Amino acid sequence: MNRSDTLTNSADGASPDVPDCLRAALANGRPGPSRVTRAVRAGLGADPGHRSVMPPIHLSSNFYFESPGVYAKYDYTRSGNPTRDLAAEAIAELEGGCGAVVTSSGMSAIAVVTRLLSAGDLLLAPHDCYGGSHRLFSAEAERGSYKVRFLDQTAAGAKAHARALRPRMIWIETPSNPLLRITDIAAWTRLAREIGAVCVVDNTFLSPVNQRPLDFGADLVVHSTTKFMNGHSDVIGGAVIAADEELFEDVAWWTNAMGVAGAPFDSYLTLRGIRTLHARVRAHEGNAQRVVDLLTRSDVVSRVNHPSLAGHPGHDVAGRQQLGWGSLISFELRGGREAVEAFVDGLEHFALAESLGGVESLVAHPATMTHASMDQHAQIVAGIREGLLRLSVGIESADDLVADLERALARVEEVVCQAA
Ligand SMILES: Cc1ncc(COP(=O)(O)O)c(C=O)c1O
Repeated sequence: MNRSDTLTNSADGASPDVPDCLRAALANGRPGPSRVTRAVRAGLGADPGHRSVMPPIHLSSNFYFESPGVYAKYDYTRSGNPTRDLAAEAIAELEGGCGAVVTSSGMSAIAVVTRLLSAGDLLLAPHDCYGGSHRLFSAEAERGSYKVRFLDQTAAGAKAHARALRPRMIWIETPSNPLLRITDIAAWTRLAREIGAVCVVDNTFLSPVNQRPLDFGADLVVHSTTKFMNGHSDVIGGAVIAADEELFEDVAWWTNAMGVAGAPFDSYLTLRGIRTLHARVRAHEGNAQRVVDLLTRSDVVSRVNHPSLAGHPGHDVAGRQQLGWGSLISFELRGGREAVEAFVDGLEHFALAESLGGVESLVAHPATMTHASMDQHAQIVAGIREGLLRLSVGIESADDLVADLERALARVEEVVCQAA
């Protein structure tokens, strides 16, 4: 895994993912600041009026016109807002995009992107994508906004099948939610290019610290910034990052037309979260590795899904395209629903709650929580069973988390022994 966070000068002066603001520095022969530095310092010095170090929050819904018909940069916050723009610029830089929009939720980011489809266009999506995406795609297809096909993008023959279907848009979610299947982004973007499809990657699970889909040829990246980007479970938000100007203008137009841009206060909190993104993600990951070790040693766990494991079918692809293994883990308990209840009841430091990527550890039961909007058939096809649990490993003390899980697993052992 190449974890280099520093941009260095390439032979032609700048690598393709270098944002304009850094091109000047690179042209001067200096290496650009690392992504870590840029994330920590995003928007600093953006207040020439009062010279505040941290940028102010612009909550105002409207802005003075100089005179009738003379437009300044901002007129109305739905269309543009300085605080939201700072968050968007930081996100675009982190993903290596040419521009980003910040939206009111991950789902509104996804809705904006699917506005690029017309009636009759086919959207090809993973069969185990986030339940809310599955619900939106299915409902829009039912009312004729576009067509949708769900398929296992990791299955043998999936690409040949996709090529024959001629989709207009290919949706990728890798690692997938909740089974952490890994999809080869470069291979699918190559196919998308070949057949003239737009390739979109939902990068919520890893954040740009651990995966940068635009580097592998994706056209658009979406985020639920509710998760790692904000990182403190106190904002619902989303973002769309575009690889080129034309796509950026399209998504920006729809974001304004649909009225789904993110609120300034939420944008401020998200920008604040982004400053600690790299540090948080590495802390999450260290803890997750301890949890993976524990789960793989337990007799009551029949299967652990995490790309760090050599036996994970996506291990090699993840090693190529990810910059870290991530801190979402799913696993299956022996003993079905009864075991799940005993396990969850026995936990002290993992809250039974939806969402992921916050500083606090969470446990979710996908069949009845995050993926309850999928009907039972769709759940079975996607591999979501009664005994499956998902952990979002937080940044608490690893020792506390491991001890907590050990106690909960001991309770499951009792249930499994009694049933035997
Ligand atoms: C992978 C993924 N994409 C999108 C979303 C939707 O984001 P939001 O809840 O911010 O609308 C979620 C929410 O859990 C998610 O897990």
